[in-house]
Amino acid sequence: MNIHLQSARSCDIMDNMGNIILHGARVVDPAFGTDTVRDLYIADGKIAASPAPDSRVIDAHGLVAIPGLVDMHVHFRDPGQTHKEDIISGADAAAAGGVTTAVCMPNTKPVIDTPELVQYVLDRGCNSKIRVLPYAAVTVGQLGETLTDFAALKNAGATAFSDDGNPVMSAAVMRRALITARECDTFVATHCEDASLVRNFAVNDGAVSKALGIQGRPAIAEEIMIARDCMLALDTGARLHVCHVSTARSVEIIRRAKSVGARVTCETAPQYFSLTESAVPQLGSLARVNPPLRTPTDVAAIIEGLRDGTIDAIATDHAPHADAEKALGLLDAPSGMIGLETSLALALTHLYHTGAMSLTDIVRRVSATPSDILGLDRGTLSVGSAADIAIFDPDAAWIVAPPFHSRASNTPFIGAELRGRVRYTICRGELVYDL
Ligand code: DOR
Ligand code: ZN
Ligand code: ZN
Repeated sequence: MNIHLQSARSCDIMDNMGNIILHGARVVDPAFGTDTVRDLYIADGKIAASPAPDSRVIDAHGLVAIPGLVDMHVHFRDPGQTHKEDIISGADAAAAGGVTTAVCMPNTKPVIDTPELVQYVLDRGCNSKIRVLPYAAVTVGQLGETLTDFAALKNAGATAFSDDGNPVMSAAVMRRALITARECDTFVATHCEDASLVRNFAVNDGAVSKALGIQGRPAIAEEIMIARDCMLALDTGARLHVCHVSTARSVEIIRRAKSVGARVTCETAPQYFSLTESAVPQLGSLARVNPPLRTPTDVAAIIEGLRDGTIDAIATDHAPHADAEKALGLLDAPSGMIGLETSLALALTHLYHTGAMSLTDIVRRVSATPSDILGLDRGTLSVGSAADIAIFDPDAAWIVAPPFHSRASNTPFIGAELRGRVRYTICRGELVYDL
């Protein structure tokens, strides 16, 4: 057992253990394929077989209880840019979205590339409402040149490795990273966009970039890097996780790579099944994100990939930025959007209420499968597992509006009417969010 599990455990033990009866909830647990209305008992931070005598009763009639969301891709800006978000405010936003485990990308200031910085994220996470885990950088300073010390970083508690935000441009460096990841029994999570093709362009290369008269980020920039990394994964036998898949051909490349035995997993983010590039002229910098919003054909393929399991996970890529930065306008603002407080509702609105996916399959993508990819023991409500639970009204209609629990408010979904709303979040048996 490595130190990261030990740190996460001791963090779990420090937390307050509540005893709760969740009365009459529709309990969906993909681990057993179950979807039944029943009581759920929580005692000493775990799912229990019977109620503890001093339990608080929460009336959950009409509500759905699922394993808390495991979001394997967030940016909490801590250390260095805590005016945008810190680990505590990021965890508050997570709790409000039903997210009970969040894995932070290392593109902070400084970059998380030493054991001490890994420990910093773990320590701060222990004081937050949810479980916060760190990725460590693939290369020193995320400069794409020198590999970090994977063994030491994993031993300090790094969940896995990523240079997200800065694609690893050198195939030689990526190959060495994958070989090292395999030796250390971990994986590399990649932001796939060839930097020479996307430069600092703000939108997809297509109808909208043409209409605006600006250069765009072509789909092929994402696809060739995914193809390269899938081939490197196949050749090295290493595990690769592709972040935020956004195009139809990316889905197809990953589908084929899996079919020939590459150890590849991938995620998409809610914006890639909810929005297209046509949101950009109206929303400007709020709709600026890397990779960019794409076309209706891409959205349809992303949904099909989620349905057939080619896309393993939904992760938010929660990327807070200050209002003043987003006010710089489409061409100059930084890329990214917050997502923790809307991700489950967007999945319910665009995947469940449209009939595209069952609740059980959605829970697989938001919780059970990312937990498996990360090697965690979350993503199930079986007796004895950690009481990490998201409880939501599947039909409640609401309009996204500030204030948010996040310190930032850069989301293109302000004003959108969504269906499905988180009512309570329980993490390690403790009620951490109550709408
Ligand atoms: O839009 C993005 N924002 N994409 C990334 O890869 C990085 C992220 C950020 O850190 O803001
Ligand atoms: Zn990224
Ligand atoms: Zn990211």
